Amino acid sequence: MAKQRLEGKVAIITGAASGIGEATARIFTAHGALVVIADIQDQLGARVVASIGPGKCKYKHCDVRSEKEVEELVDFTIKAYGRLDIMFSNAAISEKMTSTILDVDFDVLDNVIAVNIRGVAATIKHAARAMVASGTGGSIICTASIAAAMGGYGQAVYTASKHAVVGLVRAAAAELGRHGIRANCVSPAGVATPLCLSLTGQSQSQAEESAAAMMVLKGGRPLKATDIGEAALFLASDESAFVTGQNLMIDGGVTAVGTMPAIR
Ligand SMILES: NC(=O)c1ccc[n+]([C@@H]2O[C@H](COP(=O)([O-])OP(=O)(O)OC[C@H]3O[C@@H](n4cnc5c(N)ncnc54)[C@H](O)[C@@H]3O)[C@@H](O)[C@H]2O)c1
Repeated sequence: MAKQRLEGKVAIITGAASGIGEATARIFTAHGALVVIADIQDQLGARVVASIGPGKCKYKHCDVRSEKEVEELVDFTIKAYGRLDIMFSNAAISEKMTSTILDVDFDVLDNVIAVNIRGVAATIKHAARAMVASGTGGSIICTASIAAAMGGYGQAVYTASKHAVVGLVRAAAAELGRHGIRANCVSPAGVATPLCLSLTGQSQSQAEESAAAMMVLKGGRPLKATDIGEAALFLASDESAFVTGQNLMIDGGVTAVGTMPAIR
């Protein structure tokens, strides 16, 4: 049996009814963690719990735009499992693919910011409060994006919101380190999840092909949600005990190397 890297730990994962969050819930539970799956897609969330096994995880409805619901999510977790060691703040949305800076819709902007910045800030705040109160430290991981490192990899408001996620995480790392709480980001390139497919209108294979074409590293297969989950597992586990304030890119080299086909 594989080594249980999260034995005895309790995690919350937001946006875990689908995509990267769901894949990470499967990896965390396989490594011994008890996981609360938080999302607004209640039927999908219940299905994920049924397929992982209700002995290993529970579903809690939580719209991360609501601070009250985020606070209730943390309370629910501590009542259910007695502690909180890991917050994976992963839920996010984007404006439409066709939207440009020339036609920003400010109602849409408010909503993207409410989920992607306000939601992440609320999850960090309430998870950190519980972790400080317990005195046993913890690991906060937020999903940013390659769009947090460069322009041109997402719509304008989404790009701005993901830059803000990195800022929140760095500030949290600075303020929470004294309590033994770490804060880091994972930043994926394109993964063919429902979010990616609904934005691009591509089929799964088209999305995988275009994401692979962008990458410097040719891994012989597309980037998958589980690749992000494995990076989150490292940041959640004690193996990353002295890693904090980082933005771990899972992007096949795109943001470090750039796209220079002439050299490659
Ligand atoms: N898929 C990609 O190519 C890609 C690339 C870079 C970053 N990301 C980031 O990865 C994360 C996960 O996205 P995904 O690709 O797995 O998409 P996804 O759509 O499969 O999953 C996102 C989940 O977030 C949930 N969600 C949306 N609004 C919410 C809210 N207000 N409160 C609670 N939950 C809410 C959705 O219901 C969904 O289950 C996001 O932060 C996204 O920005 C994705």
